[in-house]
Amino acid sequence: MAFLRNKLRPFRAARYAGLAGLVVLAACLGYGQSHGQITNSCLDCHSTLPDPLGVSQEKFSQDIHAQKGLTCASCHGGDPTSDDADQAMSRKAGWKGKVDRRQIPQLCGSCHSNPAYIRQFNPSLRTDQLDQYRTSVHGKRFAAGDTKVAVCTDCHSVHDLRSPRDPRSTVNPVNVANTCARCHADTSYMKGYSIPTDQFAKYSISVHHEALAVRGDLSAPTCSTCHGNHGAAPPGVDKVQNVCSNCHAFQAQMYEKSTHKKAFEAASLPGCVVCHSNHGIRHPTDAMLGTGPDAACMRCHNPGDECDQARAGLLSSLRRLDDANKSADSILRVAESSGMEVSEARLGQDQARDSLTKARVTIHSFRTDLVDQDIQAGLKIAAQNLQAGKDAMVERNYRRLGFGISVIAIGIVLAGLRLYIKKIES
Ligand code: HEC
Ligand code: HEC
Ligand code: HEC
Ligand code: HEC
Ligand code: HEC
Ligand code: HEC
Ligand code: HEC
Ligand code: HEC
Ligand code: HEC
Repeated sequence: MAFLRNKLRPFRAARYAGLAGLVVLAACLGYGQSHGQITNSCLDCHSTLPDPLGVSQEKFSQDIHAQKGLTCASCHGGDPTSDDADQAMSRKAGWKGKVDRRQIPQLCGSCHSNPAYIRQFNPSLRTDQLDQYRTSVHGKRFAAGDTKVAVCTDCHSVHDLRSPRDPRSTVNPVNVANTCARCHADTSYMKGYSIPTDQFAKYSISVHHEALAVRGDLSAPTCSTCHGNHGAAPPGVDKVQNVCSNCHAFQAQMYEKSTHKKAFEAASLPGCVVCHSNHGIRHPTDAMLGTGPDAACMRCHNPGDECDQARAGLLSSLRRLDDANKSADSILRVAESSGMEVSEARLGQDQARDSLTKARVTIHSFRTDLVDQDIQAGLKIAAQNLQAGKDAMVERNYRRLGFGISVIAIGIVLAGLRLYIKKIES
């Protein structure tokens, strides 16, 4: 390789000489940055080296730092104008040597914690990542000497590090779960720690994963939405377990005022997570209020006690409105398919269904009187619509009868007419 390099040198020298004037001109015009590409001896040489020393031109061109005009030397130091390895990578030229894992947060932070520096490129980019990182379990353990926890490059990659907004970034919301899973779902890597390794498996079957990854709903959370990108918890949330209220405000409002909130807090139980879990959250069904395998209440309450009776009351209220809605829906559907005009009642059923949805939110007060207000409102609408459906069916039957009679009458007239014509002909 060195041989080839030496052979190429005269050609390069000629090219550089020719370019020199142009380069001076470009520099005057403020295009000095692009000149950096031409003389990046680090990249020239390392793009020819095998892994782990190799960094290809193709890979590095994807890197946000390269795109913003930074070079290898911006992070590693050294002299990128020298083709000579010893000269380029000399301590005298500021080369920092092999990057020790223990230096990485400090290295990234040397720019990213410097507001004056970052502002030159992007005034809206935050500069608290390193400070935040230090408050996380990763950062605390790292400071205590544990180098297996995540450092900046484990989540962000290196040399092809992209902006989080790029869909191919390892920290784009769509890819975050896989990035965390590289460690957290690896039982052998996590051996020696006392935490489970099922977060990814559970998250993968959750309503949140379904919404985000399958339906592309970016308002649904991934790992870092709940845990924070860098800190121990997202901004404005004291504990991860309280993050649910950020998005599920109505349920949270009800829960806030409930006896459970106080009782759970006193017992250090994690709020919403007690009934819904944290990673494997599924679509809630009425079975949660039942006594079967999905029961959420019977873990704590005893059959027949006051709370169990309240539970049974809540369940039967929901069922009553659900049944009323189904009856109204079904008769209206039949009426409509027989050509009756019931669009107003069918539209009205949306309101009755909304009442049921509202009742399932109000459940979080765990008070039968409050839930019954929603149920009663829904029942009233459903009853009206059921009546509208019934009336339409009576009308339909009446019309069918009328139609039958007229068909028979017409038949009789036609038969009479035929007899009459025959009589005239004969
Ligand atoms: C002519 C080829 C050549 C040039 C030019 C060159 N390097 Fe290297 N670099 C190497 C080789 C070969 C090694 C491995 C040497 C060793 O292990 O001692 C290396 C090692 C490194 C390492 C340490 C990797 C490790 O894990 O040990 C870093 C970082 C590095 N180079 C960065 C740079 C930077 C930055 C520049 C430009 C300022 C640069 N290199 C210029 C060939 C080159
Ligand atoms: C944004 C900062 C940054 C830039 C720019 C950068 N590097 Fe690195 N480089 C790092 C960090 C951090 C590591 C250590 C990665 C790790 O251990 O996970 C590293 C590791 C390396 C290694 C050692 C690889 C290994 O696995 O041992 C080499 C060689 C290297 N860089 C060369 C380059 C070259 C050549 C360029 C330019 C094409 C470059 N770097 C640009 C930050 C940077
Ligand atoms: C020499 C200074 C410097 C170093 C060292 C550095 N960065 Fe950067 N980084 C920048 C600049 C400048 C930008 C471009 C900011 C912009 O214009 O959006 C940037 C952009 C980024 C972005 C994209 C931000 C966005 O939202 O667009 C991420 C992520 C990032 N850097 C992470 C890292 C990590 C991780 C490290 C350590 C391996 C690191 N940086 C080291 C200067 C640096
Ligand atoms: C545990 C994984 C993880 C670690 C460790 C990590 N980051 Fe991040 N980083 C993320 C995620 C996730 C995002 C946000 C992606 C998004 O905006 O959706 C992010 C975003 C960023 C951004 C873009 C601006 C912002 O704050 O949203 C920068 C810059 C950045 N990180 C730098 C760093 C630096 C510097 C370190 C090390 C001190 C670091 N990161 C460590 C996961 C991580
Ligand atoms: C390089 C491997 C690695 C990556 C990548 C990684 N982690 Fe970790 N994480 C660890 C290790 C190791 C621990 C320490 C385990 C412990 O706390 O006992 C840890 C601890 C944690 C903890 C604290 C657990 C506790 O309560 O003790 C949380 C929460 C966490 N990580 C979330 C994440 C999230 C979210 C991501 C992705 C954005 C992520 N991690 C990426 C290795 C990693
Ligand atoms: C909907 C919010 C949410 C999402 C999404 C989420 N977590 Fe969690 N996670 C929690 C809560 C709440 C806890 C319990 C925290 C506590 O007890 O303080 C937790 C606990 C943890 C722990 C500690 C060990 C444990 O299992 O109890 C780790 C590690 C962890 N999560 C990693 C992840 C990873 C990796 C992902 C993505 C695959 C993820 N989390 C997605 C909310 C979430
Ligand atoms: C970043 C916002 C966000 C956070 C944080 C969040 N969720 Fe969600 N959640 C959503 C979205 C979006 C959906 C999908 C709604 C849909 O199906 O249309 C959802 C769905 C749900 C569902 C299923 C609703 C249904 O009708 O099927 C439950 C239950 C749920 N989340 C509970 C929680 C719990 C418990 C937490 C806290 C551990 C939490 N969520 C944290 C946004 C969030
Ligand atoms: C004591 C158990 C319990 C607690 C605590 C709890 N929930 Fe629920 N949650 C339920 C039950 C029961 C249902 C209704 C299931 C059904 O009938 O469909 C439900 C339904 C839901 C639904 C979907 C149904 C809907 O349309 O509203 C969401 C979203 C939800 N809960 C979020 C939360 C949030 C956020 C918290 C914390 C603020 C929380 N839950 C606390 C038991 C609980
Ligand atoms: C983790 C244990 C736990 C779970 C799970 C649980 N509860 Fe409770 N519940 C309590 C405690 C503790 C209290 C307050 C102490 C008391 O008054 O008995 C309470 C109180 C109540 C009350 C009285 C409320 C009031 O305003 O006075 C009702 C009703 C109730 N729970 C219903 C339910 C229903 C319905 C579910 C299932 C959706 C449920 N609970 C799940 C522990 C639990």
